[in-house]
Amino acid sequence: MAAEHVVVIEDLVKEYPVRGADDTVQLVALDAVNLSVERGEILGIMGESGCGKSTLAKVLLRLEPPTSGRVEVDSEDIARLTKSQAREYPRKVQMVFQDPYAALAPRMRVGAALEEPLAIHQIGDKPQRRQRVEELLALVGLDKSLAGRYPHQLSGGQRQRVNIARALALDPEVLVLDEPVSALDVSVQAQVLNLLREVHQRLGVTYLFISHDLRVVRYLCERVGVMYLGSIVEDGPSEAVFASPMHPYTLALLHSIPDHQAAEGGTVSFRLKGEVPNPIDRPTGCAFHPRCPMAQAICTLQRPPLRPVGGKRFSACHFAEDVPELGRQLAQEATVS
Ligand SMILES: Nc1ncnc2c1ncn2[C@@H]1O[C@H](COP(=O)(O)OP(=O)(O)O)[C@@H](O)[C@H]1O
Ligand SMILES: [Mg+2]
Repeated sequence: MAAEHVVVIEDLVKEYPVRGADDTVQLVALDAVNLSVERGEILGIMGESGCGKSTLAKVLLRLEPPTSGRVEVDSEDIARLTKSQAREYPRKVQMVFQDPYAALAPRMRVGAALEEPLAIHQIGDKPQRRQRVEELLALVGLDKSLAGRYPHQLSGGQRQRVNIARALALDPEVLVLDEPVSALDVSVQAQVLNLLREVHQRLGVTYLFISHDLRVVRYLCERVGVMYLGSIVEDGPSEAVFASPMHPYTLALLHSIPDHQAAEGGTVSFRLKGEVPNPIDRPTGCAFHPRCPMAQAICTLQRPPLRPVGGKRFSACHFAEDVPELGRQLAQEATVS
C-alpha cells in the first residue's frame, strides 16, 4: 500500500513580477516543484538562500497564491477551498518562523498569545482555554508562570518555544518550520531541536522543516528534499542522501560543510563554480549546469525531470547514477589528505 500523503505538490510554480531594465519581468521563485509529504514524517527542505524555501512555505500556508500547479492538503486543492474550509485551514497547517522576536506581538502576554488562536477558532470556554495554555507551555518545556510575561522578558530560546506552542495550539496536522533555529545561539539551537524531536514523538505531527543548515537537517529529518533555483533536485531518506548523494548539487553542498574542508587542495576538485544565478535569468536545460563540474552538452539543452533512482530516492540529474562514484573519490581524497 502506498504511504498516505498529507501534502501533495505538483508542478508548483510561483512567479513574482519584478522591475526589469525597462519593463516588468517575472522572477520564477518556484519552478515546477514536485513533492509529497507523508503523514507524520519529518521532511527537511534544504538549499542555499534564495532557492525558494520560504516561498514554498508561504504557498503552503496560503499566504501567497500559486501561479500554476497544484497543492493538495488532505486531498483538497488549497487554491479551491470553500470559505468555511479556508477559515478552518489554520487548524490543518501552521507555521513557525525564523525570527522569534518578530513573530510575537510585543504587548501581548505569553498566555494571551497562546490563547488567541483558540479564541479565534472558538475552541473551549475560558477555563478550558486557560487549561490548554498550561498544557501548551508544559509541552514546550516552559513553566506555567511564564504565561504572565511579555515577549521582551523572555530569552530567544524561550520565545521560540512560545512560537512553537502557539503553532501547536490548534493541534495542526502539518507544521511548517522555516529556519526555526537559525536565529538562535548554537547551544540554544540544540535544545530547541531536541524539543522539536520530543514534540514530534509525542504528537506525531508532520513537519516540513526548512533549513539552509545541513547539519540541522541531518540531525532532525528522516527524509530530505534538496532545492536549487526553485525546484527539488534530490529527494530521499536522509541517511542515504547524506551518505551518497545522487545529485551533484547535493554532493557540492555536503563538501562545503566545514568538516570536509580538509579535502581542499586534493586532485579531484569539486567546488561550486560561481554564484547561484538570478532566478530572473534561469539557465537553460538543467538550471545547475553552469556550476556543475559534471555537466555535458545535454545538460545545457534538456531539463532533467525529477526521476526515481532506486530505494525511495529521486534525482533531477541526467547523470544521477554517476554521482556516487564521484562522491567516493571525494571521500577517498578527504581521508588521504
Ligand atoms: N515578494 C517577492 N517579490 C519578488 N521576489 C520575491 C518575493 N519573495 C521572494 N522573492 C524572490 O524569490 C526567490 C526565492 O526567495 P525565498 O523563497 O525567500 O528563498 P529562500 O527562503 O530559499 O531564501 C528569491 O530570488 C527572492 O528574491
Ligand atoms: Mg527563507
